[in-house]
Amino acid sequence: MKKLILSIALLCSGLFADAQTETLLSIKPAGNQIVSKHIYGHFSEHLGRCIYDGFWVGENSSIPNKGRIRLDVVDALKKIKVPNLRWPGGCFADEYHWRDGIGPRNERPKMVNTNWGGVIEDNSFGTHEFLDLCKMLDCEPYIAGNVGSGTVEEMAKWVEYLNFDGVSPMTAIRKQNGMDKPWKVSFWGVGNESWGCGGNMTPEYYSDLYRRYATYARDYAGAPLKRIASGASSDDYHWTETCMKNIGPGRMWGLTLHYYTLPTGNWGAKGSATKFDEEQYFNTMKNCLRMEEIVSKHAAIMDKYDPKKKVALIVDEWGIWTDVEPGTNPGFLYQQNSLRDALIAGTTLNIFNNHSDRVRMANLAQTINVLQALILTEKDKMVLTPTYHVFDLYKVHMDAKYLPINFTSPDYSLGDKKILALNVSASQDSTGAIHISLVNLDPKNKIALNTDLGELKWKTVTGQILTSAQLTDVNTFTNANKVHNAKFTGAKKSGNTLKVELPAQSVVVLELK
Ligand code: AHR
Repeated sequence: MKKLILSIALLCSGLFADAQTETLLSIKPAGNQIVSKHIYGHFSEHLGRCIYDGFWVGENSSIPNKGRIRLDVVDALKKIKVPNLRWPGGCFADEYHWRDGIGPRNERPKMVNTNWGGVIEDNSFGTHEFLDLCKMLDCEPYIAGNVGSGTVEEMAKWVEYLNFDGVSPMTAIRKQNGMDKPWKVSFWGVGNESWGCGGNMTPEYYSDLYRRYATYARDYAGAPLKRIASGASSDDYHWTETCMKNIGPGRMWGLTLHYYTLPTGNWGAKGSATKFDEEQYFNTMKNCLRMEEIVSKHAAIMDKYDPKKKVALIVDEWGIWTDVEPGTNPGFLYQQNSLRDALIAGTTLNIFNNHSDRVRMANLAQTINVLQALILTEKDKMVLTPTYHVFDLYKVHMDAKYLPINFTSPDYSLGDKKILALNVSASQDSTGAIHISLVNLDPKNKIALNTDLGELKWKTVTGQILTSAQLTDVNTFTNANKVHNAKFTGAKKSGNTLKVELPAQSVVVLELK
């Protein structure tokens, strides 16, 4: 009742000029739910210029590197505290034979990367190089094993090579290759998109295969695997249902989901990364918001078989997928990254935070030069995209306690169509600081918020904002800082109420202490 009176009083106060966009947000104290840091994971496939020209430079490159791993990229990714990195694919994973990527580089066999442009893969970046990279990033490796074209034995031996700390044929080879102690890799993907590029299987067939491959991917002393089953595409709920029923919660740590935002909603002409009008922006954001429905429905199926929520839903491929930049190799999936993409990142991460009871890991596709990239490179130059800056803002949520929120979003309308303009998530870190991330998808109207924090105590509010004049604004090699994070001054304390004026087309993260 007290809260209702307060809310009515705030509504009537005339604090904000535009009553139509005035919104009430309430935030409740934390329970036990944690926003896993692994929601903020990334993905690096042997695709286009992600590994080669992205992470990995030529043998005598003048670009600063350590063991051929680019240092500017490592520094940028360390700043956003990348918690895990998925490798070697994607579709590439189900054609990858790990033994081709170990040993002296000049003796490694070459292969054709049939999925991505038909280019020659020289296998110079393999298991050791990937795990060196993870060490430099201080992140956990997430390796996808080959089910589509690899054998059970091949996968079993890879795990032995990586994780066994004893005398065995695989550990002898590992030692010969310079690694005495096992890496103890934990996140283990059993195939990728097994319904498509990973073997065109039915879920019934895949779930049987999963049980077989997962059996021989052993837990070695001190190195238990978190086995991850290859899950559904988008709204394929039958796939999730079948895996949950046939594999069951005891045999997998996680089940994946892939969902990409397509501007046109169409896999043919997907739409440009940089040239779009408001109608296409609206449709893109509508498609992005579908993640809420898709995650909720997969999670509801998982609840039936796993009410204690032991199995994580892992969205290990997400992001916007547009047409490639004109003049670039269509098989390389190189696209620019605009303010629109930053709004997609902020929105999607809010959805994951709010579903963190079930979504405990996710991987944006992909880290460098591919799809919704964090980083673009051109020779020795590097650009941080608007999406990178969102991850920089949102890192405060990692491993923090989830705070339940409640609000009714104003609409963002275009003609007679409408979507929700506002999305929010909140968490409290181990020092007691509260972080609220807010996204306004409406490109024309600001949103005025009155936030009731109930029993949560705080004294000060500070914030940062990511926005730009145009939704199509991008960072380029000649104007690298056009879209960037800046100090936000639109939040104020009034009693225990937080008043925020959220600008149009913006991502804001507030810190309350
Ligand atoms: O991320 C690009 C590709 O998209 C991945 O290789 C595949 O898993 C998905 O179809």
